[in-house]
Amino acid sequence: MLTIVPRQIDNSDPGTYFHQNWGKCTAQAVGTSGVGRRVECWETGGVNVTGTTAAQQTAAPFALPARSLEGVGKRPFGIYIHVPFCATRCGYCDFNTYTAGELGTSASPQSWMEGLKRELDLAAEMTGAPAAETVFVGGGTPSLLGGDGLTEVLAAVRSSFGLAPGAEVTTESNPESTSPAFFDALRVGGFTRISLGMQSAAQHVLKILDRTHTPGRAVAAAREARAAGFSHVNLDLIYGTPGERDIDLDASLDAVLSADVDHVSAYSLIVEDGTAMARKVRRGELPAPDDDVLATRYERIDSRLSEAGLSWYEVSNWAKAETAESGDTRCRHNLGYWDGGDWWGAGPGAHSHVGGVRWWNVKHPARYAEQLAKGELPVGGSEELTADDIHMERVMLTARLRTGLPLSELVASERISADQVVVDGLAVIENDHLVLTDRGRLLADAVIRTVLA
Ligand SMILES: C[S@@+](CC[C@H](N)C(=O)[O-])C[C@H]1O[C@@H](n2cnc3c(N)ncnc32)[C@H](O)[C@@H]1O
Ligand code: SF4
Repeated sequence: MLTIVPRQIDNSDPGTYFHQNWGKCTAQAVGTSGVGRRVECWETGGVNVTGTTAAQQTAAPFALPARSLEGVGKRPFGIYIHVPFCATRCGYCDFNTYTAGELGTSASPQSWMEGLKRELDLAAEMTGAPAAETVFVGGGTPSLLGGDGLTEVLAAVRSSFGLAPGAEVTTESNPESTSPAFFDALRVGGFTRISLGMQSAAQHVLKILDRTHTPGRAVAAAREARAAGFSHVNLDLIYGTPGERDIDLDASLDAVLSADVDHVSAYSLIVEDGTAMARKVRRGELPAPDDDVLATRYERIDSRLSEAGLSWYEVSNWAKAETAESGDTRCRHNLGYWDGGDWWGAGPGAHSHVGGVRWWNVKHPARYAEQLAKGELPVGGSEELTADDIHMERVMLTARLRTGLPLSELVASERISADQVVVDGLAVIENDHLVLTDRGRLLADAVIRTVLA
């Protein structure tokens, strides 16, 4: 049986672990023993937590060591902003997000916005305010803030860090909370890229996912974004949802291609522990996604997108070819994560990385706002990466890119393992980089384990 690996988190084996959605959410285990391992999303801290964390919980006010600040601004620098609000909770999603009912009066978009501005000011002071080359507003549902709210967010980034010339500025948006006026406002406000959560074009699949938009709304929103002047538009797909048939996936791909977007992310459905969907699967009300089906669907997505001129540049991400007019069509912000860049993640539960130090904010919006109201950074924990951690991450992340894993980064024993992966037909050597083959992409996790073993 073919096992599609990008969706697996294997908590039974020591080492570093992968969460599937590398584009959005690269998760890793902290710690190397069989217990006390924590797997989490770098951006939102919202993914799986197993056992206790091996990393330090911050008691004293958080400060970055001088050595991590050396070179800030010379390496790629991005800002991630987490908007922790959703109108309703999708049954498959365990991101750090809250409905109005869940928040009650404990926190609000206003208290979040005030906290965010304070955090950005404190962050700029601590880092020396390098201009942001990329900004990514994610969630949650950033489009719930409306064009004015998102423009206010970007103004806060401008006044704290400033934007580098040609900066990429993305916001995620849910199709149902967008409109032509919304996209016009974002364009005027300075956003350059829109990422829409489409997931599927099949009504019954959207229903299983608890999505509230109609099948056609995501494509209509993508067209509205393009009409407002956005040349960089992404559509997110989820494949392998229980009940999805091959014809449903084809309908989704037809719809994506009809929207003429320059970027597509496609993620296999992960049944996350603790979600409503996981409970339904456990009770036998829904079947778990089947690995063989997922592999076939991934191949179908890759072949249809490639035929249409969208090439993979990371295992779950495809983009149109760059032209002089379009510039880089890949998500530069995510490339910063994958290429060892620095980023400040602001907002509840957001994760940051600067010069080998990683930290994460407290998750609840009420605690987040409270700490910032006291003038403190809302850091929940931090860790300093060892040389081994950094090496392991470089291998894990670059191996998933079309540009590949630089062989120069491998020690002698890993180089021998890499040769074996090539003999097995899972990768090729191109310009001194190990690049996954089509089959290797389905088995990316296994390839990485082999190289690191
Ligand atoms: C967390 S959402 C945030 C953006 C927006 N609220 C939305 O739903 O589109 C970002 C993307 O993560 C993906 N995602 C979230 N949970 C997932 C899961 N359990 N399995 C696969 N993909 C998931 C979806 O494709 C989604 O578009
Ligand atoms: S709208 Fe997006 S962030 Fe909110 S619950 Fe659904 S998938 Fe998660």
